[in-house]
Amino acid sequence: MIMWAALKSSILLSVLCPVALAAIWQSPSQLPSKKYDYIIIGGGAGGSVLANRLSETSSVNVLLIEAGSSDYKNLNIEVPQYVGRLIRSQFDWNFTTVAQSGLNGRSILYERGHVLGGSTAVNFMAYCRGSKDDWNRFAKVTGDQGWSWNSILPYAKKMENFVGPIDGRDISNEVDWNSHGHTGPLRTSVPMYPISTDSRVLNTTSQLSSEFPFNLDYNGVSGNTLGVGWAQFSIANGERQSAALGYLDPILDRRNLDILVNTHVTQLIQTGTSSGKPVFRGVQFSQPGSSQVFKLTASQEVIVSAGAVKTPQLLMLSGIGDSTTLSKFGIKTIVNSPDVGKNLQDHPLVTSSFTVNSTNTLDNLNFDPTFAAQQLQLWQNGHTGQLGLPAANQIAWLRLPSSSGVLQGAQDPSAGPTSAHHEFIITDAYIGFTGQFPAGGNFLTFFTVVVSPASRGSITIQSTNPFDAPVIDAGFFTSEFDVQTMRESIKSMRRFTSAPAWKDWIISEYGDDFINAQTDAQIEAYARASAETINHASSTAAMGKTGSSGSGSGVLNSDLTVKGTVGLRVVDASAFPFIPAAHTQAPVYILAERAADLIKSVNPVY
Ligand SMILES: Cc1cc2nc3c(=O)[nH]c(=O)nc-3n(C[C@H](O)[C@H](O)[C@H](O)COP(=O)(O)OP(=O)(O)OC[C@H]3O[C@@H](n4cnc5c(N)ncnc54)[C@H](O)[C@@H]3O)c2cc1C
Ligand SMILES: *[C@@H]1O[C@H](CO)[C@@H](O)[C@H](O)[C@H]1NC(C)=O
Ligand SMILES: *[C@@H]1O[C@H](CO)[C@@H](O)[C@H](O)[C@H]1NC(C)=O
Ligand SMILES: *[C@@H]1O[C@H](CO)[C@@H](O)[C@H](O)[C@H]1NC(C)=O
Repeated sequence: MIMWAALKSSILLSVLCPVALAAIWQSPSQLPSKKYDYIIIGGGAGGSVLANRLSETSSVNVLLIEAGSSDYKNLNIEVPQYVGRLIRSQFDWNFTTVAQSGLNGRSILYERGHVLGGSTAVNFMAYCRGSKDDWNRFAKVTGDQGWSWNSILPYAKKMENFVGPIDGRDISNEVDWNSHGHTGPLRTSVPMYPISTDSRVLNTTSQLSSEFPFNLDYNGVSGNTLGVGWAQFSIANGERQSAALGYLDPILDRRNLDILVNTHVTQLIQTGTSSGKPVFRGVQFSQPGSSQVFKLTASQEVIVSAGAVKTPQLLMLSGIGDSTTLSKFGIKTIVNSPDVGKNLQDHPLVTSSFTVNSTNTLDNLNFDPTFAAQQLQLWQNGHTGQLGLPAANQIAWLRLPSSSGVLQGAQDPSAGPTSAHHEFIITDAYIGFTGQFPAGGNFLTFFTVVVSPASRGSITIQSTNPFDAPVIDAGFFTSEFDVQTMRESIKSMRRFTSAPAWKDWIISEYGDDFINAQTDAQIEAYARASAETINHASSTAAMGKTGSSGSGSGVLNSDLTVKGTVGLRVVDASAFPFIPAAHTQAPVYILAERAADLIKSVNPVY
């Protein structure tokens, strides 16, 4: 019966990914009857790292439970330029925020990955470690030097296999090769080909060098992210590198690892008491639409890696949260942990486009079906062509100049002088989330992003039904500091694009909303009317100082164990005490790599 299940699963799987063996189970009834040492909830960035590292020792049995499917080799996931097709697809949880008071009452989409690989299978693939000051601030607020920049650098290298681009060009002017790991599970690189805007971006760094200096590697070992540099991505050989592809796909033949997909963990179960604390080694799970409920216990630990939106929901449904909130829903409080779901931090973005004097931009993929079909052919024949290009060949990380006035009298929310306040992502095509998508043309688009926000949002529950979406309040622009930072970022972008390098390229600003945003007040109104999320939700179950308790002291100890419990950890973006001034996937991989060592250090089997 078990054999048949394994066979069925491997037949199913061989359709999706021909090389894989078994280990992926499509439903709970197929699971072999085994005693698990560790049960991991969520197969995204955090969960995939742990599933891999904890199962490195063959005597340790690991179960990974993922709500989404195992279709991480779907074409729309693999092809970098198809990232837009993943929004509101089977791979998206389809969340929406509540009305955002800082965004004129708009609700915005809040995409999250719902597939093995989690959000790394649907994200924009930008790869950034965060700054030296970001990590040193983690060390400071947790009192744990293990989170300092110098301590995490070995993990940043361990996770990474930085490879050269597909065209074999000399990249010594694009990256500091020695700052990177070259043998880890996750392949990363610089963009596969140069594009026509590259020289203009780079010439801007010499023409306006004081505001926009060149930085050879914003992921360099110095930890100084500031400046304009070649972007790095979790793309290699023209193909998305998700956590599933990097950390799970190569180990599907491990007999001691079981991966259960299409299955939602609905509750953490208290299995006993130890030294007066509740032990949480049990999990309850089921499949959507099925009334069958399954329960399993782990002999060592349960690890929650459901991401910054679903992790706090699961904790609350399990009696771990603010007792006032829990009692409103009739949930018995087992651990009164007031910070669960509070402190949500995320990065708001605005896109602004220009029409350009060229017929050769990435827009042709959107507007010319014949060209798009040819490019798909190229990609399928050997991963060449434009479909393997990322959203940007360069990124800028910038601090507010003191002349902007924004920092005067305000508390600077950034982690320190190596952390940016705002970011530009420079795209060789039209991208827009609000407004009307043009029917044709050639464009240049800047994402301006507030990366050290002062605003805070929250995640809470709307009911005790685990299949109901949590209540998401991004809190965008509830702090004046953030809307002013966005305003300054847009003004800074206009200075950038007025450099001589853009003179015969940019024709004009595009769209009345952008064109008419001229005074400070108008630019702020433009930002409130058009901001969206870059999907970096963080800090909803944050770590604090080990042993401290009460409101503001965090949900986790600095070793990521849940305060007030035994046998339970959280290892995902929820754990960051502050959102890094970076795209968040690499910081989660780094956090999870260290978490694996922390878990191993207390189990003599390793
Ligand atoms: C659209 C988008 C674009 C992004 N762009 C970038 C980018 O360019 N660069 C970058 O660095 N970062 C980017 N990010 C953010 C980055 O992907 C995340 O920070 C990172 O993946 C978070 O890792 P995680 O482990 O916390 O959660 P996730 O990777 O989201 O994994 C959580 C997993 O848990 C599963 N799960 C949730 N609840 C349950 C449950 N109850 N039972 C079982 N399974 C469950 C989910 O299905 C998911 O697979 C983006 C994110 C999105 C959504
Ligand atoms: C999200 O919405 C899309 C479009 O309605 C749907 O096809 C998809 O199944 C939904 N995702 C999930 C996880 O339900
Ligand atoms: C960039 O600068 C180089 C070197 O000065 C010059 O040759 C090139 O034409 C410039 N490119 C653009 C687009 O300005
Ligand atoms: C457009 O670009 C061409 C070169 O490709 C240049 O000769 C021409 O002057 C540009 N036009 C404008 C309006 O800048």
